[in-house]
Amino acid sequence: MFLARISLLLQPLVLLSWLASPASAYTALSDHFLKFVPSGGDDFDIENGKLLAPILIPRVPGTPGQLAAQEHFVNFFRNELPSWSVEWFNSTGKTPVTGDRDIPFQNLLFKREPPWVQEGQSNILTLVAHYDSKIAPEGFIGATDSAVPCAILMHVARTIDRFVTQMHDEMNALGEGGTVPMDMGIQILLLDGEEAFLQWTETDSLYGARALAEHWETSHFPANSFYKNPLDQISMFVLLDLLGSANPTVTSPFLPTHWAYRAMATIEQRMRQLNLLESNPKGPFLPDAEKDISSFGRGMVEDDHIPFMRRGVPILHLIATPFPSVWHTMSDDGAHLDMPTVRDWARIVTAFALEWLDMMEVEPKDEALEKT
Ligand SMILES: *[C@@H]1O[C@H](CO)[C@@H](O)[C@H](O)[C@H]1NC(C)=O
Ligand SMILES: [Zn+2]
Repeated sequence: MFLARISLLLQPLVLLSWLASPASAYTALSDHFLKFVPSGGDDFDIENGKLLAPILIPRVPGTPGQLAAQEHFVNFFRNELPSWSVEWFNSTGKTPVTGDRDIPFQNLLFKREPPWVQEGQSNILTLVAHYDSKIAPEGFIGATDSAVPCAILMHVARTIDRFVTQMHDEMNALGEGGTVPMDMGIQILLLDGEEAFLQWTETDSLYGARALAEHWETSHFPANSFYKNPLDQISMFVLLDLLGSANPTVTSPFLPTHWAYRAMATIEQRMRQLNLLESNPKGPFLPDAEKDISSFGRGMVEDDHIPFMRRGVPILHLIATPFPSVWHTMSDDGAHLDMPTVRDWARIVTAFALEWLDMMEVEPKDEALEKT
């Protein structure tokens, strides 16, 4: 009787602290740290920028452009970020316009986990974009859809890398690793085959995402691991799409992850107040921070998150709605990008990832951080 009462009393408290934990797991970045967050600068140049220029080409699955994009990503991580693991998730599929031919859909995953963790023991921030481009109109580039998001994620990875290293080294020295909430990893997932070949349907779209979500659902970690499979391990699935045009608005469609949206909206607002952003939009990129609870649950955009969301993965969907005016036209190319907006997204997403990974623990002192 007595014990039962105690457990009744304890339950709401335990529940409350569990609910509060995602939002309070990390400390907000200081102004000082926000000022250090680099924009990527010339690396987003559309002619010869190191990150973006090489993928401003058609990237249709089963064509040389697909291979060129893959090579660009793999070489970048191999050469510049050797601590990140590289994993391929290859599948094939038939499409309504390619007949009996098997079209290759090849997702790429770049991951960094604390070096001491075993399989299924770390929670992993997952940043996602699709790298394929639409088959029609012929020659379509898809600069916002989604070459820019891919380049932004490369920039995020390279910027946070040194902080991740420092964090792991310090945790290791202090013997702090080994608890699941503290053991945070990050992965960059570049998906293939997002676009429909003929017309968007359940089976003609999301080729890479559907294959991967299904594969991960049936990949079990050892029985004693904290997480049961790689889907379970995703602390947040942050999907970037259709970014790079001026005046974007990204809404908050999902109440369960609205707290994470708010964290990013706060970063945008703080960076704007500190004059760290270059663009001069009509309104904030992320205007929904104060969205009323009764307005959730209406409408959302079908995208690569769907196969993951259906399996219970928490989603933060960063997609401009309305879509950019160049959407699915030949004008979605480098020349129609708004570079200040591109670099601002790079800053905001980088700061969000740093904050998520609790990098105030390794805040840079006064040294000048390379502004690349
Ligand atoms: C997947 O395909 C790529 C590109 O063709 C190839 O380099 C890679 O080895 C393949 N990986 C696996 C695991 O099959
Ligand atoms: Zn598209």
